[in-house]
Amino acid sequence: MALGTTAAVALVGLSGHVVEVQAQLAYSVPGFVLVGLPDTALSESRDRVRAAVLSSRIDWPNRKITVNLSPASLPKRGSGFDLAIAVAVLAGSGEIPAAGLDRVVHVGELGLDGRLQPVRGVLPMVAAAVASGFRDVVVPTADVAEASLVPGVRVRGATTLADVVVLHGGTPRSVPDVEPVRPPRVGVEPRAAGDLADVLGQDIPRLALEIAAAGGHHLLFTGPPGAGKTMLASRLPGILPDLTETEAVEVTAVHSVAGTFDPGAGLMTRPPYEDPHHTATAAAVVGGGSGLPRPGAASRAHRGVLFLDEAPEFGQRVLETLRQPLEHGELVIHRAAGAARFPARFQLVLAANPCPCGKAGGKGLGCSCTPMARRRYLGKLSGPLLDRVDLQVHVEAVGKDGMRGAPGESTEVVAARVRAARAATRERLTGTPWTLNAQVPGTWLRERFRGRWAVLRPVDEALDSGLLSLRGADRVLRLAYTVADVGGRGEPTAADVGLALTLRTGRPV
Ligand SMILES: Nc1ncnc2c1ncn2[C@@H]1O[C@H](COP(=O)(O)OP(=O)(O)O)[C@@H](O)[C@H]1O
Ligand SMILES: [Mg+2]
Ligand SMILES: [Zn+2]
Repeated sequence: MALGTTAAVALVGLSGHVVEVQAQLAYSVPGFVLVGLPDTALSESRDRVRAAVLSSRIDWPNRKITVNLSPASLPKRGSGFDLAIAVAVLAGSGEIPAAGLDRVVHVGELGLDGRLQPVRGVLPMVAAAVASGFRDVVVPTADVAEASLVPGVRVRGATTLADVVVLHGGTPRSVPDVEPVRPPRVGVEPRAAGDLADVLGQDIPRLALEIAAAGGHHLLFTGPPGAGKTMLASRLPGILPDLTETEAVEVTAVHSVAGTFDPGAGLMTRPPYEDPHHTATAAAVVGGGSGLPRPGAASRAHRGVLFLDEAPEFGQRVLETLRQPLEHGELVIHRAAGAARFPARFQLVLAANPCPCGKAGGKGLGCSCTPMARRRYLGKLSGPLLDRVDLQVHVEAVGKDGMRGAPGESTEVVAARVRAARAATRERLTGTPWTLNAQVPGTWLRERFRGRWAVLRPVDEALDSGLLSLRGADRVLRLAYTVADVGGRGEPTAADVGLALTLRTGRPV
């Protein structure tokens, strides 16, 4: 019996696991069996591998072929195992010298014509291979740039299966001259462009954005259509700091598996911005799909901004599914073969009209909605979602005075202040598990205010008048610290607390 062994990588969510792919060729009734928990795509892989070998004018071994993918317990999804299976078979049949192939990771889908097709998730796959001690990977030409982002590994690209045979020292009868397959990439252009200087007036909403960025607070904008809510939200990623290297790798891995990443541009170093439409399904926001699951918008927004425009128009199920990532920072996609986890630690920005017709709020002139309809509208966001939104700000359309006023500060200026504020926060929180004010629990904050109760007078008054709940009061304290950090004051003053209250209740005090 002849053997051929090589390696591939199985992805479960973002975590890759090296899989040994071993082909046994026995002198028995000819056949081709794959063992090791293959899903449907893997069974189809059998047909593709055979067709690709024949199209490459390589003899298909006329023996009983058993390909074993181990460990068997690992769920293996998607079409990325084709190349490793073909290489193992051809090593077993002697078309490729077998020595050392077990130390090479092969990733790629085979076309029936023998061409190698790019796959999603190459970055986390190669990273996992390197973490397991592999130093040599072979990927489709279109995936070379992405694989090469992982340091410490030799990446070789191939356009066809015949290329791979040659690369390993085999000699196919002829190597067809074909164009490499170009991967279809979707949604890679940055959508959150535009500078804060474009936004005229809107002092309080602009400040809310800055506080959100500095403290990591979730944010709700309410206001009539045309007030500039969408415009404001799209400027949040621009004032967030660059991703750290670890974050960049993590974010890029998510977008690699999603197929929304342009490897030509290198690792993603800026916070992503995702703004799913309100008609989006829960699956589109959470992720899923057959084969290798795709991360949804909430995961693609990991370490960046998830913007729900016209938030009350989203389906109730979609809004409810956001609870899990808001609480745990990840999304779990359950499948019969096991769960896939994707990180989803995003900053949530919600925009909402004050009522279905959009004209309530402010003077409320011309609103034709019943009081009941008005309550129900924003009520859709209540509970689990709004509970976590520290900042709730009303945006009114700027009048002609605002339009004629001087342009506001630029993204660059505000971003610099955000960086400084975050540094101040980190210093205060040294020795705690938190780095952003939004993460700090109320008990810790109240302790710090001990002995300085006078500063909290605005909060006491708001509590007394019923404007604020106790839970809301904790959020105000949290915001007050971010206001202080942005202003370069170590501890909040009464004015900081007052401003925090405005940013929480949407009302000046
Ligand atoms: N404060 C503002 N400064 C400059 N342009 C504004 C401002 N507010 C609104 N606009 C203009 O109005 C358009 C609509 O704003 P938009 O953000 O879509 O409002 P909303 O989301 O509240 O309905 C913007 O694209 C922009 O051209
Ligand atoms: Mg809008
Ligand atoms: Zn209305």
